[in-house]
Parts: sequence; C-alpha cells; structure tokens
Amino acid sequence: MRAITYTEPGGPEVLQLTDQPLPEPGPGEVRVALAVSGVNPTDWKRRSTADPGDAPQTPNQDGAGTVDAVGEGVDPARVGERVWVWEAAWERRLGTAAEHTVVRAEQAVPLGDHPFELGAALGIPFMTAHRCLTVAEHLPRRLEPGSLTGRTVLVQGGAGAVGNAAIQLARWAGAVVVTTVSSPEKAALARAAGAQHVVDYTREDVAARVREIAPDGVQAVVEVSIRANAEVDTKVVAQHASIAIYADDGGPEFSAPTRAFMALNTRFQFVLVYTAPAEAKAQAVADITSALAAGAIRVGEDAGLPLHTYPLAETAAAHRAVQDAAVGKVLVDVTA
Ligand SMILES: NC(=O)c1ccc[n+]([C@@H]2O[C@H](COP(=O)([O-])OP(=O)(O)OC[C@H]3O[C@@H](n4cnc5c(N)ncnc54)[C@H](OP(=O)(O)O)[C@@H]3O)[C@@H](O)[C@H]2O)c1
Repeated sequence: MRAITYTEPGGPEVLQLTDQPLPEPGPGEVRVALAVSGVNPTDWKRRSTADPGDAPQTPNQDGAGTVDAVGEGVDPARVGERVWVWEAAWERRLGTAAEHTVVRAEQAVPLGDHPFELGAALGIPFMTAHRCLTVAEHLPRRLEPGSLTGRTVLVQGGAGAVGNAAIQLARWAGAVVVTTVSSPEKAALARAAGAQHVVDYTREDVAARVREIAPDGVQAVVEVSIRANAEVDTKVVAQHASIAIYADDGGPEFSAPTRAFMALNTRFQFVLVYTAPAEAKAQAVADITSALAAGAIRVGEDAGLPLHTYPLAETAAAHRAVQDAAVGKVLVDVTA
C-alpha cells in the first residue's frame, strides 16, 4: 500500500511517500481502508520531536474510511462499515496518512452516511472539546441536548479547530457560548459555528464584554492560551467554574492570581486527549456519535471550519499548512 512514513524527526520534508506491506488486523483490531486523513497540530509536533526509532512511522491520528478486514474476536459484519478513526498513531506505527491503518475495534467508530471529510475532522478536536466541556465540578459528565442549558461557556479561540468543536458541542448541549477571536474574518467563522457572542480580543475588553453577557460569570472556560488569558479568566469565571487548559499556545508557562482563584474555588483542569481516562474517551465517542446522528456536527466554511484538502503525496504540504496556522481543517485525500 502507499503510505507516508518518516524515520527520523524533523521538518515536513522528512515525510516520504513509500510502499509498505498491507497490515493485518490482530485480535480485537480492525483494518480500515482510509479515504481521508485529518491533520492536527499534534501530528507535526510529534513528527518534529519524537524519534520513531528503528521502524518507519506513519503520521496522523485522525481519519475516516471503510473497515475492510477484522481480527479475531471482532464481528465480521463490520467489514464494509464506514467509520471514523481516532488516535491511530498514538503508541502505534501506522497513522492515517496511508491507504490502510489498523486500530483497536473501538477506535473505528460507525460514521453512517456522513461524509469522510467530516469523519476525519472528529477525533482529536471533538474528543478534546468534549473533555473540556465535561470536567467541571458542576457540569454533567455527558453532553446531550439540554445538558448545558442555563450554563455559559467561554471558548477562547473560537476559530480554531478545537474551539470550533467546543462551540458546536456546547451549542448542541444547550449552552450559551461566548468566544474570542482576533479578526472580523475569524468572528464570522465563530458565528457560523454557532457562537451567540463573539468578542475580538485584539480590539475589545474581553472581561467587560463577557460580564455584560453573563453577569454571574461563566461556568466553564475552554482555554487555548492560559498564558495570555489567565487574567481575563479570573475576571469572568463564576464560583466553582472550571478552566480546561488544552494547549500552551502563547507560551509554556503561566502565572495566575492565587487568591482570586481560591476565592472562587476555581478548578484548573489540564487536558491531554491521549492520556484522558478511558471512561472519558468512551463517553466522548458516544456523545459525538449522538451529536453526529442529530446532525449537530458539521464541517466546511458554513460551519466555521473551511476545509483544505491535499493529495496523499503532498502530506508534507498539509503538515506545513497546519504548522503555519491554517484557518479551518486540513485534510489529506488518501485516494488521490
Ligand atoms: N491537549 C490536547 O489534547 C490537545 C488537543 C488538540 C489540540 N491541542 C493543541 O491545541 C492548540 C490548538 O489546536 P487547534 O487544532 O485548535 O489549532 P488551530 O486550529 O490553529 O487553532 C488555534 C486557535 O487559537 C487561537 N488563539 C491563539 N492565541 C489565542 C489567545 N491568546 N486568545 C484566544 N485565541 C487564541 C488562534 O487564533 P488567533 O491566533 O487568531 O487568535 C486559533 O484560532 C495546539 O497547540 C494543539 O497542539 C491540544
């Protein structure tokens, strides 16, 4: 099969189109004939820093395609099933930038009739967003229609991939969503995703605007840059709110006003999707599946997430685009 591989960490140029043996699924696994691979910042960060060791590594965690073989213990009726795939390259050699991957059966989730482009956009962004929206002390562990009714959520960076996912899931669950952006173009995308309130953090006083919208404060913050936003977050969180920190964009360290957060019993919750509890991941998969079935998850410019698609041989360019902060979702057409 055709696969993108790399044998040493480095820039996008280490990614090569190679011929690899067709993988066979082991016990409890399925093989997926991929149609689309999704690219996330984690894919270029791992490619840049993690040495694959003595065997080639295929990048990219997310993807979508069709189950074409199953291992021992997996229902053979799954062959032919359209699926979305999550964490394909986590502690495994075969990510989704290839014609086939092999994953544990539960990492290939039924996609129904939804487009493969949508399936390949789900894994990392939506599972991260789900975790961020469900870790607070007074928020439900599950997302479903009405579960966030009466709650206000602040999504920092609503035009980002995770920000977009957080807006879509929070709206589906009934929350009021306030989000921040850095330009009118990004504001339009965040509105298209469903955010009722959009604040341009480069031109407006975010804390004052959020307090106008939610005088009692917000119950959850989905935070992409705690270094830049810790002070604003102090001013807008309600008592017992949770600040879910899923990235260190803007800098690796931060400082926070201890006493102000103590007074509010604020919870700082760090989030890394790979090492989240297995139960939280299973809940995320289940709730994302329900949201999909309800038609509540969309991709494309109309959903605030413009798609940028590259052929498999140009996976390096796709990585470069994500590294250069492409706005929207970068995909690889594995069949092209
Ligand atoms: N922990 C996890 O499990 C996990 C999962 C997924 C992603 N991540 C990480 O999360 C980060 C974002 O991923 P992504 O796929 O969403 O990337 P993305 O699509 O590039 O989005 C990042 C967004 O953050 C915004 N932003 C940056 N600084 C901001 C600030 N101070 N205030 C508000 N918004 C700000 C950016 O817009 P402006 O710069 O225009 O404001 C951009 O829209 C990456 O570092 C990624 O590695 C972590």
